[in-house]
Amino acid sequence: MIESLGTLRRTHTCGDLRASDIGQPVVLLGWIHRHRDLGGLVFFDVRDRGGLTQVVIDEEGPLLDEAKKLRAEFVVAVVGTVRARGAEVNPKLPTGEIEVVATQLRLLNDARPLPFSIASDEIAATEETRLRYRYLDLRRPQLQRNLVLRHRVAKALRDHFDSQGFLEIETPILTRSTPEGARDYLVPSRVHPGEFYALPQSPQIFKQILMVAGFDRYVQIVKCFRDEDLRADRQPEFTQVDLEISFASEDLVFELVEPAIAAAFRVIGVEVPTPFPRMAYAEAMARYGSDKPDLRCGMPIVDVSAGVAGTAFTPFREALEAGGVVRALAVPGFARASRREIDELTAQAREAGTAGLVWARKSAEGAWQSSALKALGEAGVAALVEAAGAGGDDLVLVAAGPAEGTPKALGALRLTLAKKLDLLKPDAFAFTWVVDFPLLEWDAAEGRWFSMHHPFTSPVDEDVATLETDPGAVRARAYDLVLNGSEIGGGSIRIHNPELQRTIFRTLGIGDEEARARFGFFIEALEYGTPPHGGIALGLDRLVAILAGEASIREVMAFPKTAQAVDLMSEAPSPVDQKQLDELMLEVVGPERPGRGQV
Ligand code: AMO
Repeated sequence: MIESLGTLRRTHTCGDLRASDIGQPVVLLGWIHRHRDLGGLVFFDVRDRGGLTQVVIDEEGPLLDEAKKLRAEFVVAVVGTVRARGAEVNPKLPTGEIEVVATQLRLLNDARPLPFSIASDEIAATEETRLRYRYLDLRRPQLQRNLVLRHRVAKALRDHFDSQGFLEIETPILTRSTPEGARDYLVPSRVHPGEFYALPQSPQIFKQILMVAGFDRYVQIVKCFRDEDLRADRQPEFTQVDLEISFASEDLVFELVEPAIAAAFRVIGVEVPTPFPRMAYAEAMARYGSDKPDLRCGMPIVDVSAGVAGTAFTPFREALEAGGVVRALAVPGFARASRREIDELTAQAREAGTAGLVWARKSAEGAWQSSALKALGEAGVAALVEAAGAGGDDLVLVAAGPAEGTPKALGALRLTLAKKLDLLKPDAFAFTWVVDFPLLEWDAAEGRWFSMHHPFTSPVDEDVATLETDPGAVRARAYDLVLNGSEIGGGSIRIHNPELQRTIFRTLGIGDEEARARFGFFIEALEYGTPPHGGIALGLDRLVAILAGEASIREVMAFPKTAQAVDLMSEAPSPVDQKQLDELMLEVVGPERPGRGQV
């Protein structure tokens, strides 16, 4: 029978009791974790977010009968006395030296049989089932630890910025669109039929207006909403630690952010050295084939174009003649690769867009081997291996082709190999600032320039003159913070000159009329004494996932969505009543609901 809690209060959490508490009367409140009925003896672990404590009832009587009826996840109050466990000490459990002998049990609630066992972190359930019953999944120690860590990291960051004079100011959720490169989530207005708010992709415009308003150091831990294709590190709503600073330079932003990141790492007991290294975008793309290079393993992409100039080997010669490149990876210790492994890598390189992959190595007997041995000759292969900077037991992989696509394909291959060869140590943390981004990128499909970051990013002063003549060559005062191949933050020094802001909109194909309609209020604000300013937003979910050692940000969010942007627990999104649609003057004309399950 379900009983009332009455005036009972917990004296300890289930993680508190130690040998020094032996003899103490205690009250524990929590869930039945594991339950063992040994006839004249019942053991169970009671669990709360503090941990687990073993409870024992070892005397025949009504209490034992009651204890026999308990099942996993029933909610109980245990009144009892702490005693030593004796021979059965459990060194794996912080409370493993003791147990509580119950003198009173109260069943506060029962529970249906569980859809999956949560008694251990090894769970057999699919992620769909876990998300459907998220409240059960969240009871698992691993997710409890992750959310506690998330709280501590957010607090460490907030405390750090508070200590540096930042003010936390909330910005609106029902707002106008701020372009960050994704689609907006729209909210229809009932009061203004046919009109819509946009949920913020970021508080970008508002935080800049706060600088105009004189709040010269702003921080906000804030939800952002983006309707974009989802991946392990992307959710439709996610959390930024958003900053803006007046009278900022890149150096000042870095000096304020680096100790904040160091404070976050101190939560897991890791000291990260600062300042973080910086790498130009062009170098990141050339050497790692990515603007978010994972620097935990070496293995840079090497330009061997000079080494093979004048070669008779057709793929290399043709690539170079067409203005392309020949690039190589020296894969440490992988000269032992089997033919099948090399074939797999070649297939992957083709998928990533190269015409093929040449391999070269020195055999155990010292002979030069290569897929291009015939064309290059022994001396040619030796020169190629040397140009790639490879050691005796390295495998050299070479791709020839267009200047942009070739390093990207090798960059993808580099990451596959680093994972395969276990070169990415999970407890290594390699930071870098990526700087000197181009301001604009050309979208051939749409036939126009796009902002690489967002349209409020300042060009480098010296490059402003070439904005209208050579937009592609203009450098941005933008920076990304990259950790272990993940972009954990991005920001820039902004445009504070309204005329320059208008020019940028024009370059982006946003005419004066459209700019006035979409951003008129913002450009107007810039005209009232705007200080030079800049900032950054850190992706809190990505940072915490790395700190927790999780591969997906879903594991550090309480209620994440699937890759189809569905909340499987509350079943959002959902159809709405006709009455609601009528009030909003909306009509749904679209197709049936698409598949929702897959994570
Ligand atoms: P940006 O778009 O680079 O910059 O976003 C900043 C950081 O937010 C994280 N992030 C995401 N995390 C999870 N799911 C997503 N869908 C997602 N999208 C982004 C990343 C990213 O580095 N307003 C600018 C910041 C500025 O200029 O100050 C902005 O939003 O870690």
